[in-house]
Amino acid sequence: RRIVVIGGGENAEHDVSLATAAAVAEALRSSGFRVDELTIDRDGTWRRGADALGPQAISSLAAALNAIERADAVFPAIHGPCGEDGTLAALCALTHTPMVGSGLRAGALGMDKWATKLVAEAVGIRTAPGRLVAAAEITDVEFEKDVVVKPASAGSSYGVTLARDASQLRDALDCAARFDDRVMIEEVVAGREIDVAVLREADGRRWAAPPLEIHTEGPFDTVSKYDGSARFGVPADVHGAELAALTGAALRMFDALGCAGVARVDFFLTDQGPVLNEINTMPGMTAESQVPRMFAAAGLPYERLVARLVDAATV
Ligand code: DAL
Ligand code: MG
Repeated sequence: RRIVVIGGGENAEHDVSLATAAAVAEALRSSGFRVDELTIDRDGTWRRGADALGPQAISSLAAALNAIERADAVFPAIHGPCGEDGTLAALCALTHTPMVGSGLRAGALGMDKWATKLVAEAVGIRTAPGRLVAAAEITDVEFEKDVVVKPASAGSSYGVTLARDASQLRDALDCAARFDDRVMIEEVVAGREIDVAVLREADGRRWAAPPLEIHTEGPFDTVSKYDGSARFGVPADVHGAELAALTGAALRMFDALGCAGVARVDFFLTDQGPVLNEINTMPGMTAESQVPRMFAAAGLPYERLVARLVDAATV
């Protein structure tokens, strides 16, 4: 079967997406698939290897659609806006091409941390107290506790800052506003950082792998995410009611958004139980990323996980 793997993309997570796409393509080749690797440049031009598929972004998209339409399945290995947010899912839907992972609705809702929060609260999953502000009107925000400021739509912690006083808040808001015109201000949650991965198989069955705990010296931010300083504990040392609450909440979130393929649901585990941080509908997928490590701990090695995702691709 011929699989189109798409990497890169037009947002801050471009390089992370390239790494995911390269690893996925390699895994698929070693499982015997024919792989066509397409890359979206930062300016939106589509390429195959070094060759642009057209002289301009829009003409290269037309050529890419042609490749997508002829594929048996597409693996859209792009994190962040203009990729994970349902835009690539829309292209696959319009060309009736089976695709790995979540469709337009789940991608769009999951990319938007405010929409995610509203859905989570509606299905009884706690989130940090917070509010949404428009970047254009962030002048006088009052707060009492330390807060985290983040763009509603972004990934890999780009634009996310902790603020302890008014001047830090001003800088944090400016920083977040560079990534999205909708900015969230949330109270800091004290808890262990625990990720849960959920996989939806070809037969529709969904299951959660053993959770992973993130251990860091300082904050888990864009730098510590990728410089190797964060340590992952897999499986995390959580048991009994806490484990059940984490996996139950992850599955509920997966279903509430209508996810497909794989998603990583990130929590803070507090004394009062799990508090949702965010969901990733196209999480980092190199062999060293959290999701493959969790499934490896469940006895599903990386190459088989990637092949299973392709088997579960849906139109
Ligand atoms: N957004 C990054 C790639 C992750 O979820 O791992
Ligand atoms: Mg993310």
